[in-house]
Order: sequence, then C-alpha cells, then structure tokens
Amino acid sequence: MRVLVVGSGGREHALCWAICGSPLVTKVLCAPGNSGISAIAECVKIDPEDINGLISFIKEYQINFVVIGPEAPLVSGLGDKLQSSGIKYFGPCAAAAQLEGSKAFMKDFCSRHSIPTASYKRFTNLKDAKSFLREKGAPIVVKADGLAAGKGVIVAKTVEEAEQAMTSMLEDNLFGKAGSEIILEELLEGEEVSFFVLCDGNTALPLQSAQDHKRVGEGDTGPNTGGMGAYSPAPIVTNKITHMVMEKIILPTIEGMKAEGTPYKGILYAGLMIVNGEPMLLEYNVRFGDPECQVLMMRLKSDILPALIAAHDGVLNDFDLRWYDEAALIVVMATNGYPGTYEDGSLIKGLEVASAIKGVQIFHSGTSVNDAGEFISKGGRVIGVAAMGNTIAAAREYAYKAVGAIDWPNGFYRGDIGWKRGDK
Ligand code: AMP
Ligand code: GLY
Repeated sequence: MRVLVVGSGGREHALCWAICGSPLVTKVLCAPGNSGISAIAECVKIDPEDINGLISFIKEYQINFVVIGPEAPLVSGLGDKLQSSGIKYFGPCAAAAQLEGSKAFMKDFCSRHSIPTASYKRFTNLKDAKSFLREKGAPIVVKADGLAAGKGVIVAKTVEEAEQAMTSMLEDNLFGKAGSEIILEELLEGEEVSFFVLCDGNTALPLQSAQDHKRVGEGDTGPNTGGMGAYSPAPIVTNKITHMVMEKIILPTIEGMKAEGTPYKGILYAGLMIVNGEPMLLEYNVRFGDPECQVLMMRLKSDILPALIAAHDGVLNDFDLRWYDEAALIVVMATNGYPGTYEDGSLIKGLEVASAIKGVQIFHSGTSVNDAGEFISKGGRVIGVAAMGNTIAAAREYAYKAVGAIDWPNGFYRGDIGWKRGDK
C-alpha cells in the first residue's frame, strides 16, 4: 500500500523510518518532508496546511493511508476532509483535536469529567485577568488558549512577569486569535513526563514511556523549547503510575470524548506532572511528541502500520504492541540562538560518520542540501542524534559519541540529556 506521512520534522522522519519497515508498504511519501526524509521516502512539496492541495494529490496518487504528524492540520480539519473523501487516515477529527487546539476546551473538559489538572480560570478581558492575578499572586502559569507553536505558555515567577505575558496576549495580540483568550493556572511542581496512548475511539493502548527535556539549557534552565532531547523508558513511569494515569486521566478522557459525540482516534499525548506521586494533567497533545516519537519508534519491535490502521478502523482491542527492552536516547542539535532568533544556512559535516556509530540513528528536522550536495541547516531544531543501548547510560554514551562526530560550529546541544537517569 501507498502511505503518505504529513509533516516535515524529526517526528515525521521517525514515522517514515518506522513505516518503511512494514511489509505492507509498497511506497512511503512525505509532504513536504525534509532532506533527511528524502533518503527513505518520496518527498512532495505540499504544505501540511494546504488541505485542498493534499486531498487532490492523495486522490491522484492513489494513496491508501495518510498519517498526519503535526497538530496544526489536525486542528484545521485535514482528517475530516480525508474522511469525507473516503480516504483512511491516522489522527483525530477537528472536534477531537480541540483537546490540543483549545486549552480552554481541554480544561473545561477535565472539569466536566473530574480529570486531575491544575486549577484555572479563563479570561478574555485584561482588567479581569489582572484583578484575579492580584488576588492569586505569583508564581502562576499564563497560557494562550489556541495553538502558538509551543510559545504560548509562560510559567511566571513574579506578578510583573505574569502581567507582561497577559498584556502581550490580550492587548498586543502576540499570538493573534490564539491569544485572544487566556488561562491563568495554578503552578504544579514535580517531575514532568510524556505519556502516549494509541486510541481507536473506544480503546486506549499505552505505548512505552518517554521523558523530554523542554528547557534550552543544561540542568533544565532557560526558556522552554520544543524539546532538546528525550529518552525511553522513563523510570518514573512505574506500573503504579501507569495504572493511575490510565484510570484517572486516559480512560475518563476516552469515555468523555465518546459521550460528547467526538470519539478520540489517533495518538493522545498527555503531558503530566507527577506531584507527590500523583499524576496531574498539564496538557493534551493530539500527536506524537517530537523528539519523544523518535525514541519510541526506535524501541518499537512490532510493525507500526497495522496498529495505525487498526486505530482508524476501531479494532485496537485486538492489538498488542511489542517493544525492545533496550533503552533509546536522543540528543537534539539546534542552531545557536534557538529558541530565540538565529542565522541559518550553515554547513553541517560528519553526519555519515556519526550515523555509522553502533546503535545510532540520525533524524533530520531542519536540514536542506546545497548545490554541492552537502547538508546545511535551515534553523531551529535541526538534527536529532539517537541511539539504542542496553541501559539509558549506554544509549547516552553512543548518542554523545555520534554528536561528537558532527562538525557544525553554528549548532549547539545540551550535554546532559538523560542526566537524571545517567546512572541507570
Ligand atoms: P503546555 O503547552 O501546556 O504543556 O505547557 C508547556 C510547558 O509549560 C509544560 O511542558 C510545563 O513544563 C509547563 N507548564 C504548563 N502548565 C504548567 C503548570 N500548571 N504548572 C507548571 N508547569 C506548567
Ligand atoms: N516534545 C514536546 C512536544 O512535542 O510537544
């Protein structure tokens, strides 16, 4: 069968890589993909937000199954358009994608279904938000309601910082419509983990655990990013925690979405804070995490494609995914200046040497190729260097060895990915 993956990041590189291993596949395509993906799949220049362009291509090229990587096309209704065109796809419909598309929707949904999450209040008016802030004080979390490319959450340590964030969203329209409503939320303290389940509307099949490193700086300092590295498994996700997350968070969500007439299909990614041993829901995402997807795909032993199709067909209860016992760890390399402003177009050397190191797999997220056939950076998070090992410490050693083989003076990485687990 012909499979089209929509998206252009490291996550989509990992999805194409995993799908390429399926005996069911005759051809893997990616729209628009990137220069790393083009080594394993045919890349087609269509923007993930160009829904009509995608639909005509899919029909013309007789694509049998579409896997939607990023949240934006899901929230914009790519899935619904595929459904009405009779094309099978993996991901939620637009109404179900509101779990990520609107934080206000997600918080109200949690209240309706008694799902543990931080206490919150919604505001569209700056004056009201300021008076609530004066009452509550800091620290406090300020969130834009809509999609803001991962920049819409400010964990404010002071009242001034919170006021500035609120003003930038409600008055200065920093995120446009996405910030025309905000949420002020109680700060939760604990350890953060990513929890993924594969859903078919009725059943939720937990994947292996993974942990991301969101802050740009070593020791978890500096601003939040899309993720500077990840590892799997995450030892903090014990069987007891998994059971609690399923019972208190995931299953009430699956039941609630079904009861509200928008059954959830696709990947449901719960961003959790483990507070004194109890899981609390920070956010829902309606897609795989990036770079968590890369480490999960490396550890997945089963063919992923039948599972994605089963999620669409509503027959996941027959499924049991198998995983390698080995650990996987990924180090993200980003352009100097990220997540702020940066220059791009710089040369990256040594990728071949790095990928030849034992257990190493390189996933591209922001590279292109120059006229001389060399890889150059397009900026932001650019490459993910992943490795498998018997333990997290071993995977870490191989991954950093590969990072050391990459010559990219305009790039940087965190040297402490897996640092909390380095001894395991
Ligand atoms: P979100 O997009 O909602 O996941 O927020 C991005 C990041 O902000 C999360 O990964 C957390 O690190 C942090 N965050 C969000 N909400 C809270 C909260 N209520 N308490 C503490 N940190 C939070
Ligand atoms: N790595 C976090 C995310 O994909 O949102």
